[in-house]
Formats: sequence, structure tokens, C-alpha cells
Amino acid sequence: MKIVQTPLIIGNWKMNPQSVKMAEALFKDVQKGIARVRGVDVGIAPPAVYFSGLEKLAKGKRMMLVAQDVFWENLGARTGEISAPMLKSLGVSAVIIGHSERRALGESDEDVNKKILATLKTGLDAVVCVGEKKRDTHGDYLSLVEKQVRAALAGVSKAKLSHVVIAYEPIWAIGTGNTATSSDAHEMKLFIQRVISDIYGRSVLSRIRILYGGSVNAKNAEELCTKGEVDGFLVGGASLRASEFITIIKIASK
Ligand code: PGA
Repeated sequence: MKIVQTPLIIGNWKMNPQSVKMAEALFKDVQKGIARVRGVDVGIAPPAVYFSGLEKLAKGKRMMLVAQDVFWENLGARTGEISAPMLKSLGVSAVIIGHSERRALGESDEDVNKKILATLKTGLDAVVCVGEKKRDTHGDYLSLVEKQVRAALAGVSKAKLSHVVIAYEPIWAIGTGNTATSSDAHEMKLFIQRVISDIYGRSVLSRIRILYGGSVNAKNAEELCTKGEVDGFLVGGASLRASEFITIIKIASK
């Protein structure tokens, strides 16, 4: 059974651009470029310091605000952290959790799980990143992704699954220009679906979008959509160039 979902494209700006002015200009350019594009959900994940300015621009329009991280407690002595209710109060509707750049700073599968539970409890969507450092011929990378998915979803009820998105982001493809092939992406989508259906049953698969991320650009997006059959993209570098990001969104909308 082929399950067709509305594609989701999220631009992960990471620690860019350098000023609030530049962030607002980029946001406006993308918004303008996709004003008439239908059939695709679009999110922007800027540095959190830009949310309050962007919230005003996003209001009533179709671009959603996405956070790049969250902490699992709501309030308290946690210097530097931001909680899910705080993000919600700024108009944020989803959070990227477990990005490999955060895992590289020490975030564990358990931390990722706590962040997911806190995010879902607050009524935000969780965009959970999984992916291997390198590929091997024994299939160890599959076991690693399975472990990440199972750990991420521990304690997540079936009812909450429509608020979960999985982003498969092989680390070797992030920021390197080495995109996964459409068959790599497709194989991994099917594999992740199998892991999820093992836990929850096949019926839930229509509720979880599985994105691909890692050097997505205007040239490879089409094949990743059509042959890779992914449900959208998490786009890093290319999301900082408005016209390229708009092209990717348009490709996904078809
Ligand atoms: P990239 O980043 O598109 O620049 O490879 C993707 C990501 O890290 O989410």
C-alpha cells in the first residue's frame, strides 16, 4: 500500500543568518515566493532569538515556525535552556529534536526521548532526527537507526503519533554535498516504517511523515521525491538561499 501524505519541507537555518534584519528579509522572501503554492506544508527553523520578530510575519500565513531544540522541563534553574511552553507562547508549532549536530554535543537517545515527550505534552509537533555516521556492509547502520527510532518513541502513545515526524538524516550527507541516493532514502523510509509498524501496527503509518535531510538542493529534490518517495525534506544550507528553497518547496508540492 502506497501512503500519500502532504509533503512537509522544513528549512533548518541552524546558527544563521547573522542579524534579525537578515532573518526577517529571508523569511519574507520565502513567504512571498510560496504565496500561491499549495499541497505542501512549510516550516522555518530559525535561531530561537528570531522567533518574536518572525512570529509577527508568520501570523495568519502558511509558514510555520519550528524550533531547533527544546529542553524537557518547563521552568527552573536551567541556564541557557528553552522550554516547550515558552516556544509555544512564541507561536512555534514544531520542534526539531535529536539533530546530529546536537547529538554530537552529547545529547543521548534518552535526552531525545525526554524532549519528544515534553514537546508532545505541550501540544507541539516533534520532528525527530535519526541517521547513521557511516554506512557499512553488515547493515549495522540499520540497527543504529532502529535503536534511535525505538528510543525516541518510548512512551509515545499511538494517539500522539500524528504529531511525530521522523527525519532521516545520514550524518555523512549533512553539509557535505554527498546526498543519499533516492534508493538509499527509499530503503530507509521503508525500514523506518517497518520499525514503527512493529511497535504500533501498520495502521499508524499513514500518520507519520518520514522526511529526508542531508545536502538536499534544487537539483536532487525531484528524484528524492519521486523515486525516494520521502514525505518531504529537512533542508539546511539550501534553505538559506530563498530562491533555491522556494524551488525545492515547489518541487515537493507537485
Ligand atoms: P544540509 O543540512 O542540507 O546543509 O546538509 C541538513 C540538516 O542538517 O538538517
